Amino acid sequence: MSQQYFDQIDQLQNEIRAAEITSADELEQFRIRFLGTKNILKPLFGKIREIEAADKSRFGQAINQLKQAAESKFRDLQAGLQDATDQEAHGLDLTAPAAPADLGARHPVSLTMNRIIEIFQKLGFSVAEEREIEDDWHNFTAMNTPEDHPARDMQDTFYLMGSVERLLRTHTSSVQARVMTTQQPPIRIIAPGRVYRNETISARSHCQFHQVEGLYIDEHVSFADMKQTLLHFAREMYGPDTRIRLRPSYFPFTEPSAEMDVYWGLESETDYRITKGTGWLEILGCGIVDPNVLDNCGIDSEKYTGFAFGMGIERQAMLKYNISDIRWLFENDVRFLRQFASVV
Ligand code: DAH
Repeated sequence: MSQQYFDQIDQLQNEIRAAEITSADELEQFRIRFLGTKNILKPLFGKIREIEAADKSRFGQAINQLKQAAESKFRDLQAGLQDATDQEAHGLDLTAPAAPADLGARHPVSLTMNRIIEIFQKLGFSVAEEREIEDDWHNFTAMNTPEDHPARDMQDTFYLMGSVERLLRTHTSSVQARVMTTQQPPIRIIAPGRVYRNETISARSHCQFHQVEGLYIDEHVSFADMKQTLLHFAREMYGPDTRIRLRPSYFPFTEPSAEMDVYWGLESETDYRITKGTGWLEILGCGIVDPNVLDNCGIDSEKYTGFAFGMGIERQAMLKYNISDIRWLFENDVRFLRQFASVV
């Protein structure tokens, strides 16, 4: 006759295991049924007398387990209900679809710099990255900037405290010296990075900004090579019909030196303002690497020639994205940065 009671225990076990509740009322019903003073397990305990001797201890164990299962299930249900109540109280709905993840956006300076890098990489230039804390020699001396040159004035350059030797590089041209002292031609590199100058911060200028430097050294590199390379760059960057002009200029590290303008046009009032009424916009400095620079860096200036150029990034980013104040680029205001979320 024992089997009937064992079956009943199994059934109750299943019922307990499957029990689910969604409210305090249902929890209370579960408690009354399985743990209350007149709970459904009680009569089974009385049945132990009717069990055959051989099965008595097994029956005892089974019914105790049943009781424990009911108690532990009750605790679980109670805890579950508490969680659900807490979530509701905090306005949490775990069944709601997840909010879309907030993706970051690329910075307009990075977008512009990456585009420039991409254009030159396609021409076979590789990227050289170097330190921002430089020494006097790489930033100035090697680059043929004599001791008494105004660019060395303490007003333009940030020196490290207590040092006349260590400084924050004022241009990426220092990377030219780093590369030329460690590699022999052919050299074809671009060097993107941050530079620093002790300048008053305004809508147009900042004490930190970015440049991309270019350097190409080989046998028989000519001014015409440079012009064609920079024309190609301008057309990739600003459109296939872009016109450029080279104006004679002076830099200590190049001879001859030039500045390159792109024709921006004079259609709107803004065009007038940003081109100062000429229609032309200066975007970079360039020239044929001065033989002194090659000699300073251990490259045979009888055998090799090269061209170099350096351009500011912020100015180009501001033109490209119509940004009126350079300070926006450094303040990291998310309302500004978010506007570039869809630009790739
Ligand atoms: N270093 C110059 C500057 O910061 C830019 C420059 C001009 C770089 C001519 C060059 C160059 O490599 O050939 O204003």
